Amino acid sequence: MGRKLVAGNWKMNGTNADLKEIEALGIAWAAPRVDIVVCPPATLVSRMAFSLGGQPIRVGGQDCHAAASGAHTGDISAEMLKEAGARYVIVGHSERRADHHETDEMVRAKAEAAHKAGLTAIVCLGESMEQREAGETLDVVSGQLAASLPEGATAANTVVAYEPIWAIGTGKVPSTEQIAEVHGALRAKLKERFGEEAEGIRLLYGGSVKPDNATEIFAVENVDGALVGGASLKSTDFSPIISAL
Ligand code: G3H
Repeated sequence: MGRKLVAGNWKMNGTNADLKEIEALGIAWAAPRVDIVVCPPATLVSRMAFSLGGQPIRVGGQDCHAAASGAHTGDISAEMLKEAGARYVIVGHSERRADHHETDEMVRAKAEAAHKAGLTAIVCLGESMEQREAGETLDVVSGQLAASLPEGATAANTVVAYEPIWAIGTGKVPSTEQIAEVHGALRAKLKERFGEEAEGIRLLYGGSVKPDNATEIFAVENVDGALVGGASLKSTDFSPIISAL
């Protein structure tokens, strides 16, 4: 296993004024022990990358189109994100799967586009509460993993984020046993498909990660970091989460 990773997803939040949070993060984490990524809205990718200059904190996009260019009004490509200074891109977040009807096949195509552009894809998956209550969690996440990850996935170009939909922005967090069960199953599926390489594919947990629960979550086996939403917006919340890893 390589370095662990904490990624912040600002979702549809953030203006130029909020770049001060990144400056504060840069000062706090000049030589981090873990990889740190912040994914702002597309409008801020370029400015954030510029603000960070040569600092070790990376910038990511929140989505990309599967095509490199073309008649896709409102979309941006992985190449465009790369040119703007991004190194990572989130694909298949449950909010995009829900709001934009993204299927596993579309997510896989986006991840392939990210790889082609030289970006690391953070591929998201997770079950709804209805699916969990029906005992379908492992089947759902295994199916999403199989169908959303492209053949060329490696430890360098792919990160998987397990985000139970019911835990996102709700303050509800699965028990450590529940997280361990899903992450263990995901690791096993990755090993079946990618062999040794699977050991290095980082598995992030996401969903209501906060400074006060990060230590407990990071202690769970096969948790290699976190994808953080709300608590990534302020450096005073995000920094203690990074410290906990
Ligand atoms: O991408 C991040 C996740 O959706 C988690 O969001 O930390 O606000 O629950 P949250």
